Amino acid sequence: MKQTRIPIYEQLIMHAEQKPVSFHVPGHKYGQLLTDNAKVSSYFTDLLRIDATELTGLDDLHSPEGVIREAENLLAQLYGVKRSYFLVNGSTVGNLAMIMTAVKENDLVLVQRNCHKSILNGIHLAKAEPIFLGPSVDEEWAVAGGVPYQTVEQAISKYPHAKAIILTYPNYYGMTNDIEKIIQLAHLHHIPVLIDEAHGAHFIGGEMFPPSAVELKADIVVQSAHKTLPAMTMGAYLHFNSDLLLEGDLTNYLQVLQSSSPSYPIMASLDIARNYLATYTKEDEAYLENKINEFRAKIQQIKGLKVLSYSGIQGDPLKITIQSNTSLRGFDIQKSLEKEGIYIEMADPFNILLVFPMLKAHMEYPIQDIVDRFRSVLENTPYSDKKNGKKVIGQPTEISQLALTAKERATLKTTLIPLNRACGQVCAEIIIPYPPGIPLLFPGEIISKDTIDRLMLLLDSGARFQGEGNLRNRKITIYQT
Ligand SMILES: Cc1ncc(COP(=O)(O)O)c(C=O)c1O
Repeated sequence: MKQTRIPIYEQLIMHAEQKPVSFHVPGHKYGQLLTDNAKVSSYFTDLLRIDATELTGLDDLHSPEGVIREAENLLAQLYGVKRSYFLVNGSTVGNLAMIMTAVKENDLVLVQRNCHKSILNGIHLAKAEPIFLGPSVDEEWAVAGGVPYQTVEQAISKYPHAKAIILTYPNYYGMTNDIEKIIQLAHLHHIPVLIDEAHGAHFIGGEMFPPSAVELKADIVVQSAHKTLPAMTMGAYLHFNSDLLLEGDLTNYLQVLQSSSPSYPIMASLDIARNYLATYTKEDEAYLENKINEFRAKIQQIKGLKVLSYSGIQGDPLKITIQSNTSLRGFDIQKSLEKEGIYIEMADPFNILLVFPMLKAHMEYPIQDIVDRFRSVLENTPYSDKKNGKKVIGQPTEISQLALTAKERATLKTTLIPLNRACGQVCAEIIIPYPPGIPLLFPGEIISKDTIDRLMLLLDSGARFQGEGNLRNRKITIYQT
């Protein structure tokens, strides 16, 4: 199989070039209905020419036998797995499907506590019972990392009948941990390992990147191709490589959960992103490494900023975390950068996080201009040299369980109370700072003093929450137990 091929994209272009007459969905008829509106058509027209549907020659995502199957096979070949799938609803749908494949009602599942909401939603939909594994915390970065091996070891000996282990690798900031040993341990106990590798689709691109969980023999790995590869938003990959789980079950759940009208532009962009990665050369890698080093060194020279480095682990070089040495919060820097037209991936109380583009050799990137804008932001934003009082508030470091099962929660009434009186109560809502989309509290979880402190810190420093109405008034919903 030739990785230089881009089967879905090539077929779509051939189709578009026939100037097809459309008596089928979608209703925009390859964009023709929008040509009257110049504003709309200038952005959309070209894209809509390839926004086709399951016509002869264009295959069917849910029963692929033609160009989609060929593209998925090329993807599986590239990652070295039994089967790969294209996802048109992000890693979100991949996480839901992999969890439903591995766990059923009342099953125990070991899950990293600082996981994305889609993982917790998957467990909820499967009606399984989560056992939370606390991550380690990096004091300098003030962020939570991966689950230590010892924690997994303890959890497996306490819950040997757990039906799966679900981990996030890398974390949002590009930090990795030694999941290879964890995967081996789990497999010794016949427990499948499901990895949310949303931020690591590019890891097989070269030695400068950490190993992918696919190479480390995880059973299922889900990747948001759209996050770091040149794929459209919502485009994601799922890799199946398990002897413990059934491929047929996974295929079924993906059919249940994904649209019956999957987007061809998204699928074509996944095909293009796979080709981009497959043709990534050593020369590209060296060029990218140089550019990243140049950028980091120049930012480091700006007074008040510190570019963080991974310590003792191989982290993702595309993720660049910058800490303020001043009174400015990460959120303050983010707002000021936006005034200069620079939009970053995420801020937290202490840091800003950038995702550097995975450049190929000779691609221009205006590093000096960007650095100048960073400098002018700091020059024009008032701050004092006083260091930000950095306060690391950890997630639970050990193994924990929800105080109430889903069944118990269904029978209880809830009430709204002031946040400062919530310590020790059982939370009845999901509280999600966004980004990164990692729930700080989950229904059925005990509200600790640590969590209230963290919530207050995030609220005071300008974090955004999903569904934040009550929180802004410093209130929270609890179960009446
Ligand atoms: C760790 C993690 N997993 C899953 C997701 C969901 O990915 P998607 O947006 O592709 O659905 C995200 C999104 O930010 C994420 O950070």
